[in-house]
Amino acid sequence: MAATKAAPKIVDPTFETVKIERDKGVTFLIMNRPEKRNAMSPQLHLDMNDAIDHLSIDPHTDVLVLTGAGKAFCAGQDIRLYFRGTATDPAARAKARRASNDWRWQKLSKFPKPTIAMVNGFCFGGAFTQVSACDFAIASNSAVFGLSEVNWGIIPGGIVSWNVGQMMRLRDAIYYATTGEPFKGKRAMEIGMVNKSVPANKLKSEVMKLARLMQQKSPAAVKYTKEAIRAVRFMNEPEAADYLNAKSDALKFIDKEDSRGQGMSQFLDEKSYRPGLGHFERRNKAK
Ligand code: COA
Repeated sequence: MAATKAAPKIVDPTFETVKIERDKGVTFLIMNRPEKRNAMSPQLHLDMNDAIDHLSIDPHTDVLVLTGAGKAFCAGQDIRLYFRGTATDPAARAKARRASNDWRWQKLSKFPKPTIAMVNGFCFGGAFTQVSACDFAIASNSAVFGLSEVNWGIIPGGIVSWNVGQMMRLRDAIYYATTGEPFKGKRAMEIGMVNKSVPANKLKSEVMKLARLMQQKSPAAVKYTKEAIRAVRFMNEPEAADYLNAKSDALKFIDKEDSRGQGMSQFLDEKSYRPGLGHFERRNKAK
């Protein structure tokens, strides 16, 4: 009888405020302070930075899903520990702020694999940054979003105002940031904050469907595409054209699977698929 190949045993580091779970190449990165609605404490920022550094070079992660434990996605910055707790300690505040921006924007928006925000519940204030940083966002219809900063007398700081100015229509960004009015998943979809909103009991399966699809696409083409879309937004046309030409050339060089060659030959020679309607078969998987 042929021996079945055991799945590799992966030992992840453990963290006080963050959990990592895995499902065949899909890695769940979970904000894990459910009793505080996953509000972001300085410790959570430090843990997230370490966890993302670990996962960004992990060959067993094809797709990263960011979500929250319990009934919240993330209730924003921890008002007690992040704001009040560092109010009289400028060094601690600076360290927490740096860690906060690093993982929620710098590291997550540049994560080398596709990223999906699975918004399972409350999503307030600072949490809009990590939702914006992910490539995709899928919400539960019952998730409650809110730019609640105005409700306690501050502005959507960090880079939240910049994020929502890009994700939402300007009218909606100003409306929700100045009224603080909460809104649900479906409204988040209408105004561009998330791709989709689905019933709570379908959330995980919808996320997994997207994750499994992304596992079948060329990893190099997906990585360069997401980098390019984000980068060209702030360029003029000649700069964008030049950048995209260089990026296309670089893709041929870094793509160990020769996706372009496989795609072309499966369409033109084998006639085994139609690129307009689906993806080629990855027969050359490089890890
Ligand atoms: N900062 C600090 N603590 C927070 C928090 C935050 N952003 N969000 C929730 N918590 C804490 C609560 O203080 C409470 O702690 P306790 O049990 O020690 O009293 C615990 O989490 C549970 O919160 P609670 O308000 O009882 O839960 P709820 O389910 O009734 O309401 C929210 C959840 C998210 C609607 C509510 O907690 C809230 O409005 N939080 C603030 C959200 C916000 O404005 N964030 C933006 C910050 S810039």
